[in-house]
Amino acid sequence: MSIKDVKVIELPKFTDPRGNLSFVEQLNHIPFEIKRTYWIYDVPGGENRGGHAFKQNQEFIVALSGAFDVIVDDGKEKKVFNMNRSYYGLYIPVGLWREMTNFSTNSLALEFGSIHYNRADYIEDYNEFLKMKANGEL
Ligand code: TYD
Repeated sequence: MSIKDVKVIELPKFTDPRGNLSFVEQLNHIPFEIKRTYWIYDVPGGENRGGHAFKQNQEFIVALSGAFDVIVDDGKEKKVFNMNRSYYGLYIPVGLWREMTNFSTNSLALEFGSIHYNRADYIEDYNEFLKMKANGEL
């Protein structure tokens, strides 16, 4: 997988004077079956999250509130996705390094995963990631 496989997906948005509504469906807007949902919140100024790649887990990230950057890296190229609208999702396939940074005050990142939590699925060492990419293991 490379940077080109990362997709920004526009979600349905029902604008309404009473307040707007958006939604996601698995195997529709999210191109996998959702096995897990988690959220990141109360991030102190200047802190970063992520800093790893997954062997099996695909992810879909929505900035439900506020803004943050997701830096995706395929070992050759890096791309920064600025997430700042609750009606856009970022799809990250397997085998890509990601980091989350520049969280605004009160930002809320909602993340969907394609597998249950499994630490063995994480690649946490960047040099090991580069080696696996170079070997074609990822
Ligand atoms: P981690 O994935 O390292 O966070 P981030 O990628 O945002 O830096 O997870 C932080 C902690 O939360 C870690 O101790 C494991 C736990 N955790 C779960 O138990 N289940 C989950 O689904 C996730 C994402 C994390």
